[in-house]
Amino acid sequence: MHKKYKIAILPGDGIGPEVMQETYKIIKILQTKLCINIITSEYDIGGIAIEKHGTALPKKTLLGCKKSDAILLGSVGGPKWDTLPSKERPEIASLLPLRKYFNLFVNLRPAILYKKLNYLSPLKTNNIKNGFDILCIRELTGGIYFGKPSQEIHKENMHYAIDTAIYHKYEIKRIAKIAFKEALKRKCKVTSIDKANVLYTSKLWRKTINEISKKYPKVHLSHLYFDNAVMQIIKNPYQFDVILCPNLIGDVISDECGILTGSIGMLPSASFNIKNFGLYEPAGGTAPDIQGKNLANPIAQILSLSMLIKHSFKMNSISNLINLAIHKTLLKGFRTYDISNDKNFVTTEKMGNEIVKSFLEEL
Ligand code: IPM
Ligand code: MN
Repeated sequence: MHKKYKIAILPGDGIGPEVMQETYKIIKILQTKLCINIITSEYDIGGIAIEKHGTALPKKTLLGCKKSDAILLGSVGGPKWDTLPSKERPEIASLLPLRKYFNLFVNLRPAILYKKLNYLSPLKTNNIKNGFDILCIRELTGGIYFGKPSQEIHKENMHYAIDTAIYHKYEIKRIAKIAFKEALKRKCKVTSIDKANVLYTSKLWRKTINEISKKYPKVHLSHLYFDNAVMQIIKNPYQFDVILCPNLIGDVISDECGILTGSIGMLPSASFNIKNFGLYEPAGGTAPDIQGKNLANPIAQILSLSMLIKHSFKMNSISNLINLAIHKTLLKGFRTYDISNDKNFVTTEKMGNEIVKSFLEEL
């Protein structure tokens, strides 16, 4: 009997279910043509879970995730739930607890612009002649996202709000090691981004990363302040290899790198813990404006599956084949709405089918 690979599938809200539908087509090929014993189980999360179960992260969903080998998530949230108090909003009440529960402190967000597709980027093509390949590594379970106290306070004649940024040294050390190790597999360059001229958490961040870097003499380390970094990335993206960021800074930087590839509809992400248990999801959101219109780009979701296959199932060559199939489909000229500059765009479904076709050609 082949080894079983269990994936918990959480389509969520907005375009999540539509792009997941196309991803199932690739899973089907893995099961039928490549005979990989993948078992999928679907669970509710986010707004849909609030409607159906009264909570954004039902116990059944959490249990399903615990029993699986990896989690594949669509996206959560939408205007329907925007009026809920902040802590009950689908994304806050499901994504953040999931990250914390499984201790998913590593977040990899690759932003790749292929040479032949560089016209998709909003940047002038002469700045990015050869494309770029940046791996944003975001610390995901610390910093200002999770520090306590974090609340709005209204008492007597005072009304204020507070968030707390905390970084423990061990949290910085473990993410730094991941960044240096990833850099060794690539161009051996790490750029760490912080605000060490102002923030104490950043001063400790920089000091700790400098210490860890001594164990990785082959990797070239540099530091940039956050404000300067956002400029440098636009001015000269190809100078970067691995970009390492604290939680909030990484949220911003990964979106910036993302849009420079043309569309956040093409960006996958992987989050995992020390045991390599992972959650994989597109870096973009629920895109409520195009929900249900068969316009969404399924590439980010399919690339998230590809990252799952690589990091959780350790099947590098199959993951590469999926990536290749996507690249080939783009080179054949197929474009969804978000990456098309004319009216000749294809639907979500057609894009999914074309990727399947290219994938089958690779096998
Ligand atoms: C992301 C998202 C989340 C974050 C939100 C939805 C809480 O923007 O995954 O980048 O800020 O981490
Ligand atoms: Mn974000």
